[in-house]
Amino acid sequence: MTRFDDHDTVWLFGYGSLIYKTDFAFLERRPARLRGWTRRFWQGSHDHRGTPDAPGRVVTLVPRESAICAGVAYRITPAIFAPLDHREKNGYLRLATALTLDDGRDVEGVVYIATADNAAFLGPASKQAIARQIAASHGPSGPNRDYLLHLADALRELGADDPHVFAIERELLALVQRTLA
Ligand code: SIN
Repeated sequence: MTRFDDHDTVWLFGYGSLIYKTDFAFLERRPARLRGWTRRFWQGSHDHRGTPDAPGRVVTLVPRESAICAGVAYRITPAIFAPLDHREKNGYLRLATALTLDDGRDVEGVVYIATADNAAFLGPASKQAIARQIAASHGPSGPNRDYLLHLADALRELGADDPHVFAIERELLALVQRTLA
């Protein structure tokens, strides 16, 4: 996707690890919202939070009319897409999208989405099954549970309600408690 390559800067919408793991250069960071999409732990992770034999689960966006996904928008230069494409290479593609910044501005931007036709896609499962898989998975970027817990903390910091993420977090914490008991 080369649509923004000749722009000086581009808005990137982050809704998963891009909210809390900002290991890339940006000019501005603001809370933002994306309409028509909802966050789901439906993408497999072979390269960050799991392995090809035992994939972890990370978030992608699924189309849902009337949904609003809360996240963070970064104003970046197009040069930053090369390292981000590498970081998001396990199934995510760049999609151009309209997004709304916290000051009310509607802007055009880019979001990384892993659609159902990518090889690592796992799709729906119960919150208990997702929590169990997350509790058991580790990858080169660390334990899968850290991805979930950091994301849930970051969403709380944004004041965002996300029943799917918070329900899986509750399941995971209960599972950890039971394991320690
Ligand atoms: C994102 O955070 O926007 C994409 C998914 C991820 O890297 O967790």
